[in-house]
Amino acid sequence: MTKIKNIVVLTGAGISAESGIRTFRDTGGLWEDRSIEEVATPQGYAADPELVLGFYNARRAQLSTVEPNTAHTALAKLEAGLAKEGGNLTIVTQNVDDLHERAGTQNVIHMHGELLSQWCRACNQKFISADAFTTKSSCPKCDVIGKVRPDIVWFGEMPYYMDTIEVAVTNCDLFVSIGTSGAVYPAAGYVQMARGLGKQTLEINLEPSEGSAFFHDTRLGKAGDLVPIWVDEILSA
Ligand code: APR
Repeated sequence: MTKIKNIVVLTGAGISAESGIRTFRDTGGLWEDRSIEEVATPQGYAADPELVLGFYNARRAQLSTVEPNTAHTALAKLEAGLAKEGGNLTIVTQNVDDLHERAGTQNVIHMHGELLSQWCRACNQKFISADAFTTKSSCPKCDVIGKVRPDIVWFGEMPYYMDTIEVAVTNCDLFVSIGTSGAVYPAAGYVQMARGLGKQTLEINLEPSEGSAFFHDTRLGKAGDLVPIWVDEILSA
């Protein structure tokens, strides 16, 4: 078997579950209290900006109370280990938390945006802030009041870095999906892209995802248990 050098890992809410961040679609998930339309669409924001800003303020505030888990740190170890051998790890995450970065990973693509990034719709500039925002907040770039929204990709909006992700999948030897239900496209479609390009594919998830049948292999269990084992297998192969 040829040595695996270039890996793309797609992560979802399941990888942060053991850190204490609720997933979206499991029992007790994030959408249980609020409908997706209310808090994760441009229409919901237009209808009630204060409610939507408050929802993301709460998520942002939670970041300082949680820590990366063993799955995040194992992926940081994998990135460093592959780089030493001239390989590469690209983490494509649907998560808007910063736990991959805090675990030490350098190359993280946030395709659904980031809780710590804010976007001013008046001057179109983005800025990093851990603050809470209301409709009375002003943009630190242009001073306009009431135009700062979370830099989160909502339903009906185009995910970020699609071209970069396609290049990474095209150039990888192995595509791995961790902790995602496979319910949201285009992320859910990357396994089919990888398969079409003849790549090896692996899923690590608590239960079979909606796209489970597309993967060569599925390992079922907690990411915090299974990811460190898989990373050690790759690095010692
Ligand atoms: N380890 C591994 N997998 C887990 C764990 C765990 N400890 N806990 C839960 N899971 C799995 C669940 O079984 C489920 O399949 O993680 C998955 C989480 O799925 P979702 O809640 O749907 O989250 P995700 O796939 O990231 O959602 C995709 O939907 O609402 C949007 O933009 C939001 O980025 C999000 C996107």
